[in-house]
Amino acid sequence: PLDKYNCYSLSTSRLANRFPRILIIGFGKAGTRALLNFLHLHPSITGPPVEVNYFDKYYDKESLQSYLETFPPINENISNIEKSPSYIISPGTPYRLSSVISALDIPKESIKLIVLMRDPLERAVSEYLEWVIQRTREFQSLSSFDEMVFNSETLPKFITTSEYDIHVSSWLKYFPLEQFCFVDGDLFIEDPFPVLQELEICLGIKAHYKRTDFVFDHGKGFFCVNDENSIQCLGKSKGRIHPEIEEETRKYLRKHFKSHNLRLEKLIHKEFTWAR
Ligand code: A3P
Repeated sequence: PLDKYNCYSLSTSRLANRFPRILIIGFGKAGTRALLNFLHLHPSITGPPVEVNYFDKYYDKESLQSYLETFPPINENISNIEKSPSYIISPGTPYRLSSVISALDIPKESIKLIVLMRDPLERAVSEYLEWVIQRTREFQSLSSFDEMVFNSETLPKFITTSEYDIHVSSWLKYFPLEQFCFVDGDLFIEDPFPVLQELEICLGIKAHYKRTDFVFDHGKGFFCVNDENSIQCLGKSKGRIHPEIEEETRKYLRKHFKSHNLRLEKLIHKEFTWAR
């Protein structure tokens, strides 16, 4: 299918330069919107503000040219970034991304993949809540989080998505460890500044962020951007109050996730605050 995209002429055209060198590939509900917004403050980074989803949702429907056209033209000191948090859980995506990179003649090692992972249970509750909110508008009666965990034949998607080791290992078949920047989403919520400093190193971009770029907003309950004249927080859909989860469910899931977390730590040689 790559032929139809006329990769050779694209690879030699200026459009290929727009290919994003940084991709936030996951995980949804781990803080990817805040991370993208904060990265957009960096002078070496630009790109579309919305989720792109080309390599999972639109690959068969839209041309590679139209994908490249969603990015602004750049000069050599700037990288485009895109965020599509469902890439990490979509089979076929790492293969497609890797094929397009080579078809466009882009040095593979110039691509950095950011994977943000927060406490898997909190991420699962956040995804469940998003699912409920979307359906409440349709006036459906919905099962509780606990019911869905214990009464379904197979574990629901909001649980299996938090089995981070499984998804990360499918990407490691196509991209070596050095191309990933793994970010602890709980540390990012607690204080984005040191996390962004570490990311600058991983991404190979200049040190730009200052402590004063971010302030904790007590009303929002999260760090927000300190924009000279105002404080910019994310909207109401980010940082919602989570529903109560039964202690029995928590205990069961903590145990379930622990083995996945430990496998993840071993796989990527990195420890997480929420892993044990
Ligand atoms: P909750 O709404 O469940 O608290 P994503 O952008 O990937 O969908 O992730 C949404 C989550 O980002 C929110 O989940 C919130 O906890 C987290 N988050 C991290 N940093 C944030 C910030 N500075 N402001 C708001 N939400 C933030």
